[in-house]
Amino acid sequence: MKKSRFAALTLSASLLLSGVVMMPADFGGQATAEAAKPGNPAAFDQKIISRIDAERIYSDVRYLSETIGPRVAGTAEEREAASLIRERLESYGYQIEVQEFSIPDKMVGHLATSNGDEVKATFPSGSGETPEKGLTAQLYDAGLGYPDDFTEAAEGKIALISRGELSFRDKIDNAAAAGAAGVIIYDNSEASGPPNLSIGGDAPLPVAGIKKVSGEALLEDVVATGGTVTLKVDALTGQTSQNIIATRAPKNVSNPDIVHVSAHFDSVPLAPGASDNATGTSTALEIARVLKSYPIDKEVRFAFVGAEEIGLVGSAHYVSTLTEDEVSRSIANFNMDMVGTAWENATAIYMNTLDGLPNIVTEAALSAQERIGTPSELVLYKRGSSDHVNFHEAGIPAVNFIRREPGTAALEPYYHTPQDTIEFVSQERLKEAGDLVGSALYSVIRKN
Ligand code: BES
Ligand code: ZN
Repeated sequence: MKKSRFAALTLSASLLLSGVVMMPADFGGQATAEAAKPGNPAAFDQKIISRIDAERIYSDVRYLSETIGPRVAGTAEEREAASLIRERLESYGYQIEVQEFSIPDKMVGHLATSNGDEVKATFPSGSGETPEKGLTAQLYDAGLGYPDDFTEAAEGKIALISRGELSFRDKIDNAAAAGAAGVIIYDNSEASGPPNLSIGGDAPLPVAGIKKVSGEALLEDVVATGGTVTLKVDALTGQTSQNIIATRAPKNVSNPDIVHVSAHFDSVPLAPGASDNATGTSTALEIARVLKSYPIDKEVRFAFVGAEEIGLVGSAHYVSTLTEDEVSRSIANFNMDMVGTAWENATAIYMNTLDGLPNIVTEAALSAQERIGTPSELVLYKRGSSDHVNFHEAGIPAVNFIRREPGTAALEPYYHTPQDTIEFVSQERLKEAGDLVGSALYSVIRKN
């Protein structure tokens, strides 16, 4: 074991020295084919790592996060990202399938005081709607929203409730039971934006979430003076998102095994989504470019999915389109989500699996790390929260590659904020992820 590792390292070093890998960028499969003889895994790795171009990945991260910006599911920006990905993969010669799918209704709206002041608010999915002209009513100070916090005076008013102690759902149900016409929940801690409320299913009333300072201002300016607010909440219906699937099948192999690489290209509202997940998207695109013409004996599918941030919707759709036969031929999913943060504490590459157990993907990555000398620690960890969940649930061995702080498993502080910009993305770590996942993937799909 030790010996072969040493031999592998020596070989890759000598390849580097002899200049075999110092080829112009796009030489395709032939030039290194000779060096990459069976039994020389390090030479196969060189076919990947000599060509993974960190600058190209970084410039795609910049395009997605800065030129396009936030790419919320269902928006024109998400579609623009999908077009870019599609054009790129077409230019690499992959067979492309565009999957368009519906996404759940999204609530939109606004909140204003009778003085005409706009209050920044969020409107949770599952909220009730208001009449078209909006709901104009007095506010009722309902404290934390316990049943006892409501009197008859709440009837027909909009209940203003502080976050905390009770679930959002209980607060809303208590307001409804008291005959309130709507609910505004204000935060109980200082956050830069209004809270995203998760209210668990359809609510009987229109609901808005606002910042703590906004709630306190309403108590002072509206409740105390007997003024009114106008709340408007509508469902945005019929929205769609897309997946872009790029496939390459091996020559002369019938019913090949299938390996899926996935990355989501959507983001949360207001976040440029540089780390989450322009990094995974751009790295997967680069791996697709490098692999476009190498001989393989398994089918590879790059699934660039939308609508991850609203509940893994794109990958659920993709996996649901696989036939039973395709699922049974599927042997692995490499999911890349947040692979390039520059946050200094995130020194480890986590391999998240749903059961916390190793599988073909973690094994391939560990072997690749050993051969190519990936500097970061690889940590096997039990965690969902990304698109690998849907592959796992279909019975396909799946891993989410994600950078975190070792020990705490913390994500960078810019996660899901407007600060998730390219400023906090590391070109060096993008290269590390591309080399590692590219080499591991190639070790699984290549023709020996
Ligand atoms: N990029 C994150 C990935 C992630 C993985 C976050 C593991 C935390 C842990 C992903 O896009 C995300 O934010 N996921 C959501 C869940 C999803 C079902 C909406 C999350 O973790 O809140
Ligand atoms: Zn993500």
